[in-house]
Amino acid sequence: MACFKTQVGIVGAGPAGLMLSHLLHLTGIESIVLEARSRAYCEERVRAGVLEHTSVQMLCEAGVGERLSREGLRHGGIDLGVNGLRQRISFIDLTGKCVTVYGQQEVVKDLIARRLADGGELRFECRHVSLHEIEGPQPRIRMDGNAGADEIRCDFIAGCDGFHGISRSAFPPGVLSIYEHTYPFAWLGILAEAPPSRNELLYMHHERGFALYSMRSPRITRLYLQCRPGEDIDEWSYDRIWSELHSRLGCSDGWRPTEGPILQKGVTGMRSFVAEPLQYGRLYLAGDAAHIVPPTGAKGMNLAFADVFHLSDAIAAFYRRNDESKLSTYSQTCLRRIWKAQRFSWWMTALLHRFENESGFDRKRQLAELEYVTTSRAAATSLAENYVGLPLQA
Ligand code: APR
Ligand code: PHB
Repeated sequence: MACFKTQVGIVGAGPAGLMLSHLLHLTGIESIVLEARSRAYCEERVRAGVLEHTSVQMLCEAGVGERLSREGLRHGGIDLGVNGLRQRISFIDLTGKCVTVYGQQEVVKDLIARRLADGGELRFECRHVSLHEIEGPQPRIRMDGNAGADEIRCDFIAGCDGFHGISRSAFPPGVLSIYEHTYPFAWLGILAEAPPSRNELLYMHHERGFALYSMRSPRITRLYLQCRPGEDIDEWSYDRIWSELHSRLGCSDGWRPTEGPILQKGVTGMRSFVAEPLQYGRLYLAGDAAHIVPPTGAKGMNLAFADVFHLSDAIAAFYRRNDESKLSTYSQTCLRRIWKAQRFSWWMTALLHRFENESGFDRKRQLAELEYVTTSRAAATSLAENYVGLPLQA
C-alpha cells in the first residue's frame, strides 16, 4: 500500500469539497480531494442553480467568480403566484441584494479547473474510501485508486461526500443526533431546450399542485411539478408534462411557459435532514453530508459554501496561530445558520405545495398566508432576506 501525506484529506468533489480545497490553498494549506465518481460525471450532473448574494460574494472574493460574473443571470426578485395570479417580490427594493442563477455543475467545472491550474491534487474514481483513527492527531484515509490501494495521512479529514457518502457513518454510534422530516410529495423536474420566456423565477401555488419555472441559461429552462413521492417518470410523456406545466404555470395575463425538447427528466424526493454535531475528533462534516433541505428555498449549495467558509477559516487559525477555538466552535457556528435555512426551506415548502387530505382549516390558513406574503411589505421582506442569503455569521 502506497502512503501519502497531506494537511487536509477531503472526501468528495462536490461544491463543498472543491471550494474547501480552494479556500485552504489560498491560505497556503495543502489538501487532497478524493472523489468516487469520474471528473465528467461531477461536471455534468444537473443539480441546483441559484446562488445567494453571499455565495456569489464568496466565490468572487476567492477569485473563482470570473465566468460566474460574465455568464450568471442576475435576478433582482422572484414572482410568487397563486392559481395564475402572480405578484413580484423585489429583492432589490426589499434588501438591496440579488441572487444569481448559475448551474451547480458550472460552479463545479470552474472549481475543478482552478484547482488543477493551481497544482491541486484531485483524485477521481476512488473506490472503497474509508476513514481511520479519526479520534487521534493523525487520521488516515484508505482507498483503492487506479494504481492500487493508497493510504493518506492527514491532520484533518473533511467529510464533503454528500448525503450518501461514508463520512457521517464513521462517527461512533451514539454521537450523532439526527433530525429529519420527509414531505409527502416530490418534484418532477425537466431541463428543456427552450429560451426562457421570462426574466425571473416563478413559484406557483396551484390547486393541482406546486410548479416552478426556472432557467439555466439564455437557451435552457428548468421546470418542476409537484408530484407523488416515487412517481413513475415513464408515465410522464412529453405531452403530459407540458400540458400540466401549462395548467399550473399559465398566468391570468396570458403568459405561458415556452415549450421545447426535454433534455432530461427525473423525480426528486423532498426531505429536511440535520446530523449534529458536525465534528468528531479530527473529522469535520460539511455540506450535504451533514444536512439536506428541500429545494424550494434554493439553499443546498449555498449552505455547503457557508460551511466550508467557516471550516477553512478555523483550519487556517489552527495552522497560523495554533488556535483551536474556531475548530471547537465550528459545529455550533454552522448549525445556527443551517437551522435558519432549514426553517426557511420548510416554510417555503409548506407555503407553496398542496397537501393531500389537509383540513379545511389548514387550507384556509395556507391561502391567507400566501395572500399575506404577496401583499405585506414586512412579510415579503422576511422572504427576500432569507432568499438572498443571511449573513455568514447569522
Ligand atoms: N468516496 C468519495 N466520494 C464520494 C463518496 C465516497 N464514498 N460518496 C460520495 N462521494 C462524492 C459524490 O460522488 C459527490 O461528488 O461526494 C460528492 C458530494 O457532492 P454533493 O452531493 O454535490 O454535496 P456537496 O458538495 O455537499 O454540495 C451540496 O449538492 O446535492 C446538492 O443540492 C445540493 O446543492 C447542494 C450541494
Ligand atoms: C433550479 O433552477 O433548479 C431551482 C431554482 C429554484 C429552486 C429550486 C431549484 O427553489
